[in-house]
Amino acid sequence: MKILGIETSCDETAASIVEDGSKILSNVVVSQIDIFAEYGGVIPEVAARSHLEAILPVADKALSDASCTWDEIDAIAVTHAPGLLGSLLIGTLTARTLAILRDKPLYAVHHLKSHVYANWLNVGTQGLAKPVSSDAGLATRVPCFPILALVVSGGHTQILYMPKHDKFEIVGTTHDDAVGECFDKIAKILGLPYPGGPSIAKAAKNGDEDKYKLPHPKVEGLGFSFSGLKTAVLRAVQKEVGVPISYPSHKLKELLTPQQVADFAASFQKTAVEILIEKMRLALEMYPETRSIVVAGGVSANEELRGRFETVFSSAGLRKKQYSSLSLFFPTPNLSGDNGAMVAAAAYYEIQAGVKPTDPYSLNIYPRISVEN
Ligand code: KG4
Ligand code: ZN
Repeated sequence: MKILGIETSCDETAASIVEDGSKILSNVVVSQIDIFAEYGGVIPEVAARSHLEAILPVADKALSDASCTWDEIDAIAVTHAPGLLGSLLIGTLTARTLAILRDKPLYAVHHLKSHVYANWLNVGTQGLAKPVSSDAGLATRVPCFPILALVVSGGHTQILYMPKHDKFEIVGTTHDDAVGECFDKIAKILGLPYPGGPSIAKAAKNGDEDKYKLPHPKVEGLGFSFSGLKTAVLRAVQKEVGVPISYPSHKLKELLTPQQVADFAASFQKTAVEILIEKMRLALEMYPETRSIVVAGGVSANEELRGRFETVFSSAGLRKKQYSSLSLFFPTPNLSGDNGAMVAAAAYYEIQAGVKPTDPYSLNIYPRISVEN
């Protein structure tokens, strides 16, 4: 079954054709990073306008890269929630129109669900989603249920319990900022370019991760909080350069040396990853029947995060017999961020789970809606 997946929830215009939920036949992503690097963040109206210009050429290219005709496409899937209102509208209206014109069933997919399903995309040309298990014999190529999924993106930080395909229970969520948002805000303070995640990761390579001691938030259970960490970095920078807390944060970068920037980037990155690990350890204690841990969303591209998770969530790291067959999954790095392939994969598994197509004449968008169903 070939599905055309369309994604425009934030600042990437993307379309992809995926066969049977895992084989990527084409994957076209047009990023607006260059535009927003200038502003230091996404401007919703500009994003929507850019999606409008790019969406049809992107969808056309997805078909031609896959050497597919419309006759060979079995269904269209689109992100309809959550995200930026204007951006969601462009992708959704395009998908609705194409579904009507080409007479194809239309599936509406939740963005977090599709990030999770990026872990089922394991294709020859793009490389396998890499399972990690201390016992190579037990490592499987797709995640096994029940799954604990950690979704770490610019808009969300959530732990999802997934007992089977297309079933999600939110067991932990952030009370304020998402971890990706925290990367972006701290990058701004340090004078590093947008998006903050990759630039912090790059700067951190030359830094001392133990240079600055940053606090772990005291949040009960599986909840997260990242706004305190952002403020802690801000205060530490102000202290380091010797200015009062009233000093404008956008001017701090002028006072920092490249080494200080690298040290702050490394110390923050280490702390953020430690916080995520702490909560996933607790989640595993609360859900000991878990067979796979799946990490998803833009921040899952982070190499430090991948390395530390591999160390901790292998049975050697966990040291308990019950976890000896636990496997850990990350999307291939180019599929961690927003793309159309993950939308097509999620729709495929929705269809397998019995979800019926949506009405292309009335499909709505939901800028803020939970993944629970
Ligand atoms: O999933 P995504 O592409 O879009 C949303 O759904 O939000 O995630 C974007 C977020 C941004 O905050 C970006 O800074 C972060 O993912 N990000 C990273 C890395 N690459 C992207 N964070 C840390 N390390 C990275 N390598
Ligand atoms: Zn995303």
